[in-house]
Amino acid sequence: MTNIAVFGTGYLGATHAACMAELGHEVLGVDVDKAKLAKLEAGEVPFYEPGLEEVLRRNVDAGRLRFTSSYEEAAAFADAHFIGVGTPQKKGEYAADLRYVDEVVETLAPLLTSPAVIFGKSTVPVGTAARLTKRLRVLAPAGGLVELAWNPEFLREGFAVQDTLRPDRLVLGVDRETAGRAENLAREIYAQLLANEIPFIVTDLATAELVKTSANAFLATKISFINAMAEVCEAAGADVTMLAEAIGHDERIGRRFLNAGIGFGGGCLPKDIRAFMARAGELGADQALTFLREVDAINMRRRVRMVESARDVLGGSLIGARVAVLGAAFKPNSDDVRDSPALNIAGQLQLQGASVTVYDPKAIENSRALFPTLNYAPSAEHACSGADLTLVLTEWTEFRDLDPDVLGNVVRTRTIIDGRNCLDRERWMERGWSFYGVGTPGAS
Ligand code: UGA
Repeated sequence: MTNIAVFGTGYLGATHAACMAELGHEVLGVDVDKAKLAKLEAGEVPFYEPGLEEVLRRNVDAGRLRFTSSYEEAAAFADAHFIGVGTPQKKGEYAADLRYVDEVVETLAPLLTSPAVIFGKSTVPVGTAARLTKRLRVLAPAGGLVELAWNPEFLREGFAVQDTLRPDRLVLGVDRETAGRAENLAREIYAQLLANEIPFIVTDLATAELVKTSANAFLATKISFINAMAEVCEAAGADVTMLAEAIGHDERIGRRFLNAGIGFGGGCLPKDIRAFMARAGELGADQALTFLREVDAINMRRRVRMVESARDVLGGSLIGARVAVLGAAFKPNSDDVRDSPALNIAGQLQLQGASVTVYDPKAIENSRALFPTLNYAPSAEHACSGADLTLVLTEWTEFRDLDPDVLGNVVRTRTIIDGRNCLDRERWMERGWSFYGVGTPGAS
């Protein structure tokens, strides 16, 4: 078993720390946010992630998982140091803000007096690992005995535990010139996963960094492709859901990530494609990624289009209209509202004069912090009370299961736009609702 430190206790770091302890390792989670650490030490996850609290609590109770704000403690304790801090978009720029990753390396390296491996997991622009390797050579007292490898993470929020313990693949980038312990240590740490024949791809640092960015760019492209088809379907009177199903049967295409709607959001896909374009520009390869500008533009157009649809359905003006917004999280099974299309649309509707009431099963608290001027309701029924228009913007199971009659009794007008094509259209129309989907005949 390995002594592991994980830097950062957000969605990525907390999940990785808990799951590494679940594999039997001794783990120390490190963060500068003491309030967060106190929660984690008490076995509480500071955000909503199904299944994570159980794993966290079990391992905290077993004494395998501890938390600290002390880099000295982490340096003395661990043989493997994982970097799992955020790489948000820089304000006013496309590029990624690497200050948190840099801070970990700059603070940790001078404390490393004996052999260790640092595994980067955060999503970074290609070339970052090579740059950090040079810094390590300068800063770490143990010099070349401290190795840096890149081990990108592919977990999805909402499925973080299962994606960490049963990933599709493991990728490890190593410094080909000095490659020594990193691969063997990674094999030890992930031994249980590798025993289940999970593909393990060992490559150079730059390729490993690029695997992650290009995977997210591909997923974003797939979503924007189907949303572009939704635009065409709307113009041609065709049905994008049937189209996705039909093309998805071709195994080369695949049905997953072909759900048309209000587009992608969250803390990863939007900022990752922008950072990728910025980095390609620095490398002189910007032409190769100009298509990502279009991917981004199609995605942002979905939000504008939804606001226009709401206005059209309401007869041309949003002023004074009561709009119920069901869903605020950027996707179901998450309380994350970073760059959430749903919340962005709610904000735009309000700016255009609507009175907007939002309900989300898990994301109200985070939404309120970001958009304090919107109204928030404790249930879908409360949000819809007196509504002229209902919008479903995040496909929570709870919304799929809503009873059209129960909701119909509280709204002023039975009009609904399903921004995620997640409801049973027939069921709602049978109950007298005017129903609009995305990329479907009758889409407004
Ligand atoms: C994404 C990737 O899927 C992960 O593999 C990756 O590890 C992660 O980013 C990351 O870089 O950390 P995540 O942001 O959790 O994961 O969410 P996704 O499931 O990818 O969904 C992203 C957005 O796309 C959501 O807003 C979702 O509603 C939207 N989406 C997804 C669609 O609009 N249509 C689809 O068909 C699929």
